[in-house]
Amino acid sequence: MRINRNYLNLEDSYLFSSIAKKVRDYKEENPEKRIISLGIGDVTRPLVPAVIEALSRAVLEMRDKKTFRGYSEEQGYGFLRQAVCNYFKKKGVVLSDQEIFISDGAKSDLGNILDIFGTDNTVLIPDPVYPVYVDTNIMSGRKIIFMRGTADNNFLPMPDNNVEADIIYLCSPNNPTGAVYSKDELECWVRYALEREAVILFDSAYESFIQDKNLPTSIYQIERSKECAIEFCSLSKTAGFTGTRCGYTVIPKELIRDDTPLNKLWLRRQTTKFNGVSYIIQRGAEAVFSDIGLSQAKENIAYYMKNAQIISDTLRSLGIWFTGGKNAPYIWLKCPNNMSSWEFFDFLLKEAGVVGTPGAGFGNNGREFFRFTAFGDSEDVQSAMRRLLKINL
Ligand code: MLT
Repeated sequence: MRINRNYLNLEDSYLFSSIAKKVRDYKEENPEKRIISLGIGDVTRPLVPAVIEALSRAVLEMRDKKTFRGYSEEQGYGFLRQAVCNYFKKKGVVLSDQEIFISDGAKSDLGNILDIFGTDNTVLIPDPVYPVYVDTNIMSGRKIIFMRGTADNNFLPMPDNNVEADIIYLCSPNNPTGAVYSKDELECWVRYALEREAVILFDSAYESFIQDKNLPTSIYQIERSKECAIEFCSLSKTAGFTGTRCGYTVIPKELIRDDTPLNKLWLRRQTTKFNGVSYIIQRGAEAVFSDIGLSQAKENIAYYMKNAQIISDTLRSLGIWFTGGKNAPYIWLKCPNNMSSWEFFDFLLKEAGVVGTPGAGFGNNGREFFRFTAFGDSEDVQSAMRRLLKINL
């Protein structure tokens, strides 16, 4: 018997687990201190009333023999897939419900999708970026090439024709930098992928935070992207579902590689390995896409974007360089006084009792940077910023 030795090439623990442990240890040693976390991007606003009502109705249906549900439809219930299609239609994107797959969130699908691709593909991943893309490819032993996101390219790396890749990860709005690709920039990526018959894995988990109407909220707003891109999205950040769990993946019928529609392969994979999201949760998710649900969710997004404003204003007044926070719930700052990102993490925890995420956790290009999330409770964010203004930065 042999283990999957690729796992030995991973960091000892997942970024956010390492941070949680560091904070736990610190709390044990300093029980009197109140720590404020602007670290992991976890929401603090409760589920909106439209969702709660739908969840409650669905719970009651489960107690009645006539409305009780067992196994879900395999791709997700038709009512939810149709609601997702209608949501895309508002963005000018026409999809059929056969192209939508409901899941328990973008993170799972972003990892699981690799099942349908050969391990001999070369993968192109931005650095810095959400660590799940890198870790899941290390687990399966694929060759990874990194593309550098730096302040010079506004943390939006563009295709390099000298680089050959089969699978390309793009995250826009970007976690952790908050940078968002324009339509022109995404067009370049689509062209690059089509020329190589590569596949773009497009993570749009933060699309609902885009405020600038000229920026694309889906890769399918780009011509011919259905021939080369899979899009992953989640209700975690859009509607506070981090604990409730529901997301969706779009695989257009036009996306064909090795003479095989990827939609068919993914359906085959999901029907074998996944039994779907619970009926109750899918009803809650459907309510997010109703007019009232979307408008209530928008209020929570506005709340978080106000936090982003408060954080941005504080950094500006401290003379700290930062980006993000305008079309994304993340603020990406340059660590002051030449500190490395882990040094800044320790400094901030000790001096201010504030937790953020060290940029190094998102890749080598993040080593001098640091991420704050805007998902905190507003009082906490204000209090954290007051603490920042008091310490010697
Ligand atoms: C983050 O903080 O980067 C996210 O919350 C992680 C996630 O969505 O899995």
